[in-house]
Amino acid sequence: MLAAVLHGMNQEISLEERPSLIPAPDHTVVSVQFAAMNHRDLWIQKGQYAGLKYPIILGSDGMGTVEGKQVIILPGMDWGDHEAYQSRTYRILGLPDDGTFAEEVLVPTENLFPKPDHLSDEEAAALPLAGLTAYRATFVKAQVQPGESVLITGIGGGVATLAMQMALAAGANVYVTSGSSEKIEQAMRMGAQGGVNYQDESWPQALKKMSGGIHKIVDGAAGRSLGLAIECLLPGGIAVNYGGTTGPIEIIPQRLFWNQVTLKGTTMGSKSDFAAMLAFVGKHKIHPVIAGVFPLDKINEAFAFLKSTAQFGKVVLAIPSL
Ligand SMILES: NC(=O)c1ccc[n+]([C@@H]2O[C@H](COP(=O)([O-])OP(=O)(O)OC[C@H]3O[C@@H](n4cnc5c(N)ncnc54)[C@H](OP(=O)(O)O)[C@@H]3O)[C@@H](O)[C@H]2O)c1
Repeated sequence: MLAAVLHGMNQEISLEERPSLIPAPDHTVVSVQFAAMNHRDLWIQKGQYAGLKYPIILGSDGMGTVEGKQVIILPGMDWGDHEAYQSRTYRILGLPDDGTFAEEVLVPTENLFPKPDHLSDEEAAALPLAGLTAYRATFVKAQVQPGESVLITGIGGGVATLAMQMALAAGANVYVTSGSSEKIEQAMRMGAQGGVNYQDESWPQALKKMSGGIHKIVDGAAGRSLGLAIECLLPGGIAVNYGGTTGPIEIIPQRLFWNQVTLKGTTMGSKSDFAAMLAFVGKHKIHPVIAGVFPLDKINEAFAFLKSTAQFGKVVLAIPSL
């Protein structure tokens, strides 16, 4: 089988022929049709991820076929017994186990779910990791309610676009931040009330003015950006963080304690979160936004595209058929 292999830190991905995979007990070999990229793949390529090992076939997201039936893959394995947090043995497909950037991937059979009917193959590949993270952040952690003002930061991101779509479907008033005015406009065409450019120093004031204050934040940027977003929260607000794209969170503590603000962390989600996410996405006919589809032999261009933050939504890889 053809596989896209990363051999070391900061190296380009190389395409290689690998032996066909053999099914293991309780595991299934999926013939991958489309895979999708996540920021995680960039962190691993940059060597900034726990438990690095090389060579590795990256890729947490994918859809494909098993005995002629189309499936999507839950990328998290061994969540464990507690809904509130994952077990110590929890791991994500694409490190340490070989992932979906290949013609075949071996996954636990319990991680396979039927492809949602309303999605194209590309959209189905784009959904699992970002959809799961967005669902848990938006509903399990932020507990977004109809009519609430919800700030989604860095709207071009794969998780952020899905979180926006989910919050909108739940009847929330969504505001966004982005480094790109075009992306803010795109978010508004999709139903967001408004947005601010985080490159503009006065964005928190502008956001407070346009929203009247924020009830909930769903954030993957961290850094100073999250600290400033927290200053826009109404008393009793909740900020949920799922990522650290811009580094350590810088918060003025008074903004937290005086405003009775709750800051929560979240990662991926349990198997029941995944099932709930699929039900929600199916009910509201949410289609992940596809920023671009690259053939597997253009994978290094796909990495460069994601790195440039030119994307709005998910970057998908088309895997050649066997
Ligand atoms: N804990 C988890 O389970 C989990 C799951 C998925 C992702 N993550 C993490 O969450 C982050 C986002 O992941 P992703 O795959 O959605 O990433 P992505 O598609 O690569 O998007 C990253 C986005 O970050 C935004 N950004 C950059 N600088 C920013 C700033 N100063 N303020 C606000 N936003 C900024 C950009 O938004 P604009 O283009 O709009 O400027 C960019 O598009 C990554 O750090 C990833 O590792 C964690």
